Amino acid sequence: MALKLSVIGCGYLGATHAACMSSLGFEVVGVDTDQSKVEMLSKGELPFYEPGLDTLLAAEISNGRLTFSTDFATVADADVHFICVGTPQSKDGLAADLTYVKASVSAIAPHVKEGSLIVGKSTVPVGTAQLLRDQLAISAPQADLAWNPEFLREGFAVEDTLTPNRLVVGVTNDRAEVILKEVYKPIIDLGTPWIRADLPTAELVKVAANSFLATKISFINAMAEVCEAAGGDVTVLAKAIGYDPRIGNRFLQAGIGFGGGCLPKDIRAFMARAEELGANQALEFLREIDAINIRARKRMIDVVRADLSDDLTQYKIVVLGATFKPDSDDVRDSPALDIAAQLQAAGATVVVHDPKGIEPARKRFPNLDYQEKVVDAVKGADAILHLTEWKEYRELDPSVIGQLVKSKFIIDGRNMLDRNKWRAAGWRFHALGRTD
Ligand code: UDX
Repeated sequence: MALKLSVIGCGYLGATHAACMSSLGFEVVGVDTDQSKVEMLSKGELPFYEPGLDTLLAAEISNGRLTFSTDFATVADADVHFICVGTPQSKDGLAADLTYVKASVSAIAPHVKEGSLIVGKSTVPVGTAQLLRDQLAISAPQADLAWNPEFLREGFAVEDTLTPNRLVVGVTNDRAEVILKEVYKPIIDLGTPWIRADLPTAELVKVAANSFLATKISFINAMAEVCEAAGGDVTVLAKAIGYDPRIGNRFLQAGIGFGGGCLPKDIRAFMARAEELGANQALEFLREIDAINIRARKRMIDVVRADLSDDLTQYKIVVLGATFKPDSDDVRDSPALDIAAQLQAAGATVVVHDPKGIEPARKRFPNLDYQEKVVDAVKGADAILHLTEWKEYRELDPSVIGQLVKSKFIIDGRNMLDRNKWRAAGWRFHALGRTD
């Protein structure tokens, strides 16, 4: 008999995991406390934008394997329960807020059947899994608990779930590993590396990976600062060091830095947890990684001021991009939106364009002006800032845009535009980390 699965929390991670597991042939129930989200998902509609997930979700709903509910009792039949709820940054500090993880485990505890396996996928401070095990020993001794961190990138969520570059499972016994191998068999059969770890190591793998990625980005942004001071070009530098396979050329794109729902909060939560463990010195460098990242946003504003004026009240600035990265409608901790809001606070008239993120951006920053079309946004602009590297921005025709703006001035905050093309059309072109 095929295993039955439940997925608790149907946000970005959970909805993706539920649809992908269903596509592997499992019967899956997704549970979320948000009634409107459950209604949408039940109709095969995605409450957020993620390439490829919409069609997969619709297909799995119509073949009947995938259902959604607000009722935790619906998990009773499932053999494996995946915990996919959020762990946002706490309101009062750097630590992760574990309210939803703890609440979801408590909510399913009375319903889970004998021999079932609860599998945490949420990103948590190391030690959380053991804490939950201790709780379950009282509330649901019939169930076991394992940890299986996810590494999915927004924009590639389906690909990263169905063809991940590794599977990591934190288990305390062979039986739990056997169950997880059964769930992931089609993925393992593709040759995907399988790593068995203990619970704390599995929890740590996720935050260590995100810390490393954040470090790479802040490293290249630190080099950008030095290039600016020394008259160098960070894009050439990144290319040159990236050819060394020990360094690698990925995640060396200099610009306004990282944002999103993961990297910023994960490195902060990691520091907070290390401090609790008495290992704060080991992660002191992450404080600098965070500081370099936040400084990249400020440097962008400094370039605008240096080029226009300290007093921005007379200027119309157009921000291209609101999401934290392209191919996503996620604006959580978006560097682009943060810069837009800071420029507006400094007195500039700011107009924001984004192909997918206008509605979520408007919810966070209702006072910014938004335009659905680039050609409408840029009318009368004194400066254009390219802050999220959507493909459509690379395809803009500088001559067409040049006829609409007041001043042909563009700053590339992502180092992705073809500056020769813009300059050939008569534009002043600046980029972070490049002095010429
Ligand atoms: C990240 C991890 O990549 C993923 O493995 C983890 O599971 C969740 O967190 P995601 O948040 O989707 O995924 O975004 P990612 O592609 O890592 O980009 C994060 C941020 O870094 C974006 O704001 C992006 O613009 C920025 N970035 C990325 C750079 O500034 N430069 C780079 O070279 C790469």
